Amino acid sequence: MEIKALHPLFTAEDIQARVVALGKEIDATYGNESLVAVGVLKGASIFFADLVRAISKPRVELDFVRLASYGNEDVSSAEVVMSKSVDTDLGGKHVLLIEDIIDTGHSMAFLQKFFLSCNVASLRIAVLVDKHERRQAAIEADFVGFQLSEGFIVGYGLDYAEQCRNLPGLYTAELASS
Ligand code: IMP
Ligand code: MG
Repeated sequence: MEIKALHPLFTAEDIQARVVALGKEIDATYGNESLVAVGVLKGASIFFADLVRAISKPRVELDFVRLASYGNEDVSSAEVVMSKSVDTDLGGKHVLLIEDIIDTGHSMAFLQKFFLSCNVASLRIAVLVDKHERRQAAIEADFVGFQLSEGFIVGYGLDYAEQCRNLPGLYTAELASS
């Protein structure tokens, strides 16, 4: 399958407005607590970079995890593994997990289980796109950029076969067999 067309969904300006609003929500939620922001590579990298800079508190540590799945080119599979873990000892810390998209919810369910096993003080989830169409695991994000019911979304870090991550806006990808 290849990308036949990209249909604009949210502009870079639309996204920045949501990111700024999420930063304020995060500020209000954590008050003066320090936190560790953990980004999920690679998809959340661009959202992560913008969102952490929308948090006004200086006591924010940054870390990353990376997921892989067996037998599936995207990570929308029940068999998720972590190919890179955090460097930080998260015990007793407030962790804000930053992800690009929740689709089936399997990736986030896996991450939630992992972080809770690290004896964190609290775990919250920020997600750019909360997509409900294929949800299988009961996952609720605390901070949501955009709610969508359907479609395959690319841009602003999200890819189709590693393409389109660099686009500043979000698009619905129309796919066609070549
Ligand atoms: P889940 O485990 O099904 O919730 O899938 C989450 C992961 O699948 C995301 O982190 C993305 O890497 C990928 N994914 C799911 N839907 C999309 C999409 O619409 N565009 C790009 N990647 C997606
Ligand atoms: Mg991802």
